[in-house]
Amino acid sequence: MTTSRVIRSPFAALRAALLVACVVAAACTDPVYDDAVEAQGNETEGISKGPYHRAGQRCVLCHQPGGEASDSPFTLAGTVFAQPARQIGVDGAEIRLTDADGTRHTTKTNCVGNFFVKPDEWQPKFPILVEVAKNNIRRSMRSPIGREPDCAFCHVTDVPPANPFEKVGHIYLFATDEPGSPEGAADCPVDPKRPGSPP
Ligand code: HEC
Ligand code: HEC
Repeated sequence: MTTSRVIRSPFAALRAALLVACVVAAACTDPVYDDAVEAQGNETEGISKGPYHRAGQRCVLCHQPGGEASDSPFTLAGTVFAQPARQIGVDGAEIRLTDADGTRHTTKTNCVGNFFVKPDEWQPKFPILVEVAKNNIRRSMRSPIGREPDCAFCHVTDVPPANPFEKVGHIYLFATDEPGSPEGAADCPVDPKRPGSPP
């Protein structure tokens, strides 16, 4: 893959078109949207709906106009885990973003690794470039993100073999557990380990 390859998600455009159709026709169900929401799985027991819920899932699927959480829309969101083999959130990782106009925005993960950008904070013009960093460790995505606002649209826990270029493993920052906090942030109000993560 060359550095100039822009990864686009055709699904995002389709979904946007369907959502517009749904807003126009007052009562309407969108089976593609419903299936995608269903595929995200359930709320985790013990974690209330809020910044710590649904780590690793496609946040913007729900947090967008017409979505289940349309009152709190995000322009971008995702989750950063420590290492490739388990899903323990990295607290305070910087997400450094640059959009097509060259404007920059930096946000930080919370202790389950979740981050999100609200429209009043930044409305990027796609494609965007992204780098994740903490304590002098950095990882950049080489290709720009074409137009998909959910990192987890492509970065999934189980990579399906049929689609090796569009689906990749979850985002992680270190090669192994986070140095100094292998089980995540000790003061996290919820378990920093994603439910279902290997031990
Ligand atoms: C299946 C749908 C769904 C997914 C996926 C989802 N959320 Fe939510 N989220 C909700 C709902 C519903 C609420 C509660 C209603 C609301 O705040 O609009 C909520 C509430 C929140 C809130 C509190 C908002 C507020 O203003 O009080 C935050 C923050 C949040 N979610 C972050 C996330 C993050 C980060 C992700 C991804 C890692 C995510 N959500 C994934 C549906 C979802
Ligand atoms: C449209 C699909 C897609 C989306 C959306 C996406 N990524 Fe990626 N990401 C990839 C692919 C494919 C790679 C591997 C090739 C590359 O680096 O370009 C990758 C690589 C990465 C890497 C480098 C991994 C390594 O091993 O060094 C990081 C970090 C990353 N992505 C972070 C993110 C973040 C953060 C988001 C959300 C803001 C995001 N990605 C959204 C497809 C995507």
